[in-house]
Amino acid sequence: EMPLLEQCYNLLDFEAVARRVMKKTAWGYYSSAADDEITLRENHSAFHRIWFRPRVLVNVEHVDFSTTMLGTPVSIPFYVTATALGKLGHVEGEVVLTRSAAKHNVIQMIPTLASCAFDEIIDAAQGDQVQWLQLYVNKDRAITKKIVEHAEKRGCKGLFITVDAPQLGRREKDMRLKFTDEGSNVQSGEATDRNQGAARAISSFIDPALSWADIPWFKSITKMPIVLKGVQRVEDVLKAIEAGVQGVVLSNHGGRQLDFARSAIEVLAETMPVLRQMGLENKIEIYIDGGVRRATDIIKALCLGAKGVGIGRPFLYAMSAYGQDGVDRAMQLLKDEMEMNMRLIGATSIAELNPGLVDARGLFNH
Ligand code: FNR
Repeated sequence: EMPLLEQCYNLLDFEAVARRVMKKTAWGYYSSAADDEITLRENHSAFHRIWFRPRVLVNVEHVDFSTTMLGTPVSIPFYVTATALGKLGHVEGEVVLTRSAAKHNVIQMIPTLASCAFDEIIDAAQGDQVQWLQLYVNKDRAITKKIVEHAEKRGCKGLFITVDAPQLGRREKDMRLKFTDEGSNVQSGEATDRNQGAARAISSFIDPALSWADIPWFKSITKMPIVLKGVQRVEDVLKAIEAGVQGVVLSNHGGRQLDFARSAIEVLAETMPVLRQMGLENKIEIYIDGGVRRATDIIKALCLGAKGVGIGRPFLYAMSAYGQDGVDRAMQLLKDEMEMNMRLIGATSIAELNPGLVDARGLFNH
């Protein structure tokens, strides 16, 4: 017996329903993470080590949590991050997420390994809706160049180069389900071992030789802002600034790559004091993703200096269990939580969120 959509009161509820109703292969691909899934768990639980220091007696009658990301106005500081193979969970695939993003005025990042054709996802956008491209860099740079130029021509407003996946991680839950690569628009061009699981079967073209030396080339082939997705230490944030990219996503790929990678929220807390000390905090936009399930998680990230957060699995689960209505509701729940919790910490705008509103000492002492 499936719960009614109205009985989902938060993003974790969608996960519980999805686990029960999704096809095993799809659940395996979406929910799995690397090795022992320690980082997967840490991504969510790290937020539980941060507490609020709310201000009281602030007039919070009017709360506005709109902001900008790479110059684009958004209604709330989250975006739909790139997750491959949308049609595993829903027949229509990624365009379901496109429609919800339009409705809620948030940005969607389109994955290289989408199930829908790239142009189909672009065509599903409404009005001046903004989309970004997530890029896996192909060994054949001519192919990569074509993908990037086409995305720019079709109006994408950001190029997110995934830098944490020189090889895809080993996700055993996924492998056990012996996935075949139907459902992806991507042709790997190489024979793939169907026993590797969905992730590895579709990723054999990813270039493990990608390095910092390639960044100037990306800058030369596009005018889109470039963001490095998957940075995991402050030293690399400094390198990204030096390389002249517009942003980084502190991320461990939802725990799907290196197990025992730290949570993005912890890396953020390591990064911002260093940037502030060096006067570099305005030189780059810092995003985080991984384990964001509550508006309080979003608020914590923004207090600690993030410009915005990416959310992945919860929207896949909502889409798989309830289709369009599910994703719409998941986003609305986040907005409702956001309004209430901004009020409760005594902040009326994103500009008011600052490190003084949180006690993050526990992040490092555990
Ligand atoms: C991902 N992620 C991902 N990242 C990327 O750069 N390219 C990709 O193709 C994918 N594919 C993908 C599939 C699935 C099923 C998941 C769950 C994740 C990683 C994603 O962009 C993001 O980093 C994490 O999903 C964030 O963690 P949460 O919100 O899922 O906890």
